[in-house]
Amino acid sequence: MPVTLAPPAPFAARVPEPDEPMTPEENAAYAAWVGSPLGRAIHALIAARALRRAALPPGGRVLCVAEGDGTLARALAARRPDVRVLGTDLSPDMIARALARPRPPNLEFRPASAYDLSAVAPADLVVCAFSFHHLHRPADGLREMLRAVAPGGTLYVLDLRRDADAAQLAGHLAEVAPATRGLTARSVAAAHTIEELRALVGAAVGAAVGAAVGAAGCARFDIGRVRWSADDEAALLGAAPADLLPPLEHVRGRIDGLWVEAVIEAVIEAVSKR
Ligand SMILES: C[S@@+](CC[C@H](N)C(=O)[O-])C[C@H]1O[C@@H](n2cnc3c(N)ncnc32)[C@H](O)[C@@H]1O
Repeated sequence: MPVTLAPPAPFAARVPEPDEPMTPEENAAYAAWVGSPLGRAIHALIAARALRRAALPPGGRVLCVAEGDGTLARALAARRPDVRVLGTDLSPDMIARALARPRPPNLEFRPASAYDLSAVAPADLVVCAFSFHHLHRPADGLREMLRAVAPGGTLYVLDLRRDADAAQLAGHLAEVAPATRGLTARSVAAAHTIEELRALVGAAVGAAVGAAVGAAGCARFDIGRVRWSADDEAALLGAAPADLLPPLEHVRGRIDGLWVEAVIEAVIEAVSKR
């Protein structure tokens, strides 16, 4: 019996961010969200997940692209004191925010554009979180991040996605602090759908996602929704350093509810075999 597939949901057309870097006011509002218990929990989860995926050797190098105020880079460096973490961003204001706080010896920050990582590459793990939708030339950015991955290394790009279910997205926006709600809604509007991310990979490496495994010199290339698992929760709750650990009941509540579904997050993961 033939199976009838439902037509794809009519997601609104993408509205790119007006400028790649945010304004100083938006940086301040964003940094306030990242510093909130939920923001810290999410970044600690991303750090734990990316490090688990990468299986970094001691002495390994981590490059955090478009890292904002340094929260994710800090979580990565704290979780793995035996590796070197370099956080980069285009915005001098964001780099100044990152440098303003004390940092462990394995963590550095430097200005760099996502389109030119030559001065800061290669790295065994290249991470980019919540920033891909800012890029006006996403295929160029993706190509450059892939180029920055050392042989055998991992690329982990996590971003918002525009093809979230409208009701779930509304529920998420209701959870976000009023000060950052507009910023988040605009970021989701600028984000790509999963299918658009697939097309971007094709544009970046000149081949469809399946074939991209060979074309980009990758052992593995995955694109999909983020689904936080019990393993992620255990990794977060079991080993987060005290200064990064938000109140446990808060994290548990969020992880058990909204964030297990991660309704608005997509991930691109690639493992280089060059
Ligand atoms: C929404 S913030 C995300 C920051 C951080 N990754 C996080 O997870 O909190 C987006 C960041 O992307 C940076 N950005 C935008 N365009 C960039 C580019 N072309 N190269 C490097 N950074 C860029 C902005 O300056 C900003 O810090």
